[in-house]
Amino acid sequence: MSFPPNIKRKFWGKLFDSPIMLASGTAGFGEELLNLNCLAGVGAVVSKAVSLKPRAGNPPPRLLETPYGLLNSIGLANPGVHHVLNHILPETSNLPCPLLINVAGESVEEFADVVSILESSNVHMGYEINVSCPNVADGGAAFGVDPEVVLRVAMGVSRVTARPFSVKLTPNGGDMVLSAKAAVEGGASAITVCNTFLGMHMDWRTGKSIIKRKVAGYTSPALLPLVVAKVWQVSNAVSVPVISSGGVSHGEDVLQLLAAGAQMVQVGTRLMRRPFAGAELMDEMKKLTGE
Ligand SMILES: Cc1cc2nc3c(=O)[nH]c(=O)nc-3n(C[C@H](O)[C@H](O)[C@H](O)COP(=O)(O)O)c2cc1C
Repeated sequence: MSFPPNIKRKFWGKLFDSPIMLASGTAGFGEELLNLNCLAGVGAVVSKAVSLKPRAGNPPPRLLETPYGLLNSIGLANPGVHHVLNHILPETSNLPCPLLINVAGESVEEFADVVSILESSNVHMGYEINVSCPNVADGGAAFGVDPEVVLRVAMGVSRVTARPFSVKLTPNGGDMVLSAKAAVEGGASAITVCNTFLGMHMDWRTGKSIIKRKVAGYTSPALLPLVVAKVWQVSNAVSVPVISSGGVSHGEDVLQLLAAGAQMVQVGTRLMRRPFAGAELMDEMKKLTGE
């Protein structure tokens, strides 16, 4: 690797002018952002999670801005794979960049079931398998904390698609390096490091969490050093590219993650405040590196 890192990247056999991917759950399927001209500077879009059946998600309040970052407990709300296949994906065929579909499951088999249904679409480049979902059939801990389960999920997905897929790991429990190795053994073509950290905001007057489901996913610029460390650890342990996810606000953050070993860098929460974040981050990086 050369330093400062190149902004142009090769990923899954394709050249990308930008390393920036819009993170799952913060960009829909990209079509609304396209209509608002917000996809300049964006290398790829990762869709909202898609599950087998439609999900209403968690009851409100499910989003809370704290002085230190955002708490979200959306609960993978989505219209289900059949609706996505028939009504949403056709609308994304004119995206100016590749689309990855984020896949959620409630059982090991469900990930492969969702992927096999999506295979009849040709608009997406690949998948991001979200093993941070709770394994409902097996006690509710995230699939991603158990390398043996991650292996089975990845093998199941490999069996039903020839498209590349990334496995998106959780930072909440387990050993991310062991889970990453298991995902690669099962056929993963990348590892996304990582999903949201668990967080909570208490109303001290009542002793209750403000978020209805109590514990939520926490995102914040303060998490950048945690993600840099995880990216560095995982990218030194596996042979496939690492996609970072978490903590990005500025072009310098993206460069740091690339220098730590990320091949592509996702941005999520920043986009909700700065819908033109892709173009802004690219401008900042070009100024810093002179590329
Ligand atoms: C409102 C919201 C919804 C999200 N939904 C999903 C999701 O459906 N699937 C998923 O894998 N990650 C989801 N995430 C996590 C993001 O994709 C990303 O990993 C995380 O926000 C860290 O990046 P950031 O610090 O740039 O926001 C969501 C995050 C937010 C804030």
